Amino acid sequence: MAENEFVVTPWEVSGEIDYEKLITRFGTQKIDDALKERIKKDFGELHFMIERDLIFSHRDLIEYLEAFEKKEPIYLYTGRGPSGKIHLGHMIPLMFTKWLQDMTGATLLFQFTDDEKFLFKDKLSRKETLDYAYENMLDVIALGFKPENTKFIIDTQNAKTMYPLSLEVAKKLTLSTAKAVFGFENHTNVGSIYFTSMQTVPAMLPTIIEGKPTRVLIPCAIDQDPHFRVTRDIIPKLGYPKPALIHSKMMPSLRVAGKMSASDEESAIYTTDSEETVNKKVARAFTGGRATLEEQKKLGGNPDICSVCAYFKFFFEPNTQKLEKRLNAYRKGKVMDGENKQELAKRINKFLKQHQAKREKARSKLKKYLFKDIVV
Ligand code: TRP
Repeated sequence: MAENEFVVTPWEVSGEIDYEKLITRFGTQKIDDALKERIKKDFGELHFMIERDLIFSHRDLIEYLEAFEKKEPIYLYTGRGPSGKIHLGHMIPLMFTKWLQDMTGATLLFQFTDDEKFLFKDKLSRKETLDYAYENMLDVIALGFKPENTKFIIDTQNAKTMYPLSLEVAKKLTLSTAKAVFGFENHTNVGSIYFTSMQTVPAMLPTIIEGKPTRVLIPCAIDQDPHFRVTRDIIPKLGYPKPALIHSKMMPSLRVAGKMSASDEESAIYTTDSEETVNKKVARAFTGGRATLEEQKKLGGNPDICSVCAYFKFFFEPNTQKLEKRLNAYRKGKVMDGENKQELAKRINKFLKQHQAKREKARSKLKKYLFKDIVV
């Protein structure tokens, strides 16, 4: 891999991502100032993630907003691949989805792709991915989603709905398209090649449920965009509207450049981590600090490469003025890493304490969220 190269696919994210370049590479649209204004006008407020370009790109968002303005029925669709525990990076698009739902009142279909993670991860059994799906649901519920307008679809458990519709998609998807979009090769197992058909189905369901063409917005991390290029190409041919997309950036790892990886336990903070674990991980985080304290006081730190600063930006300092103040102080050498880390650990632990309590309470409510199969 050449220097400055980066890879973003649904199965691999590596290197230092240039998001401007990614917009060009993927052919998506940037969320510019005019669009931010429109969102603010429609919803009455702007989420800090949009303000800070953490939510930065889209496809056909304007059409979705138009449908919202005309009070047409609209849906949200997002998902999670249950390959392990949820970490803070996974929470970014989920929290943003919650905000979108609060703003629009839209029903959310939430897909758990236990089939995907079984097919793509050598080491995971069907039982393990299904168990993770139920575990991950607790985190979603803890974010405040309500069963009245939030439905969890599990691919293997809702096969009665999912399978027939995925067939319709698969029939229109050629091997050469799948290879071109996902980079599959001859040694790729055929289940993996089929899988994208399953990820398309929830974009069709709102139209079936409502009995008329119904718009869907898919909030997702940008690495999922390739799936929805397939979706947007195929489902209009089957009589369904093209879904709109809104993309988030990947939350950086605590240890190095690149996204948090669920496989590197140290690079991410899990929603179930104890206070002690959080303190330890934050203490070891990669920062934009200098070799010595003296140097840092004189020359300042570099917030642009500092993972502790990134955590404030992505998650733990929602007030943008306060964020700027914090980052400036760091840049000028007025705030040192120790202080920054201590404050971050405090905020993470405060958040997790509440989240973990809600997460435990969610166990008894889980059943109410499960999608009931429909006749397709
Ligand atoms: N494939 C996604 C993952 O690995 C899960 C997913 C399914 C998803 N449907 C989605 C993510 C819709 C975002 C939007 O995590």
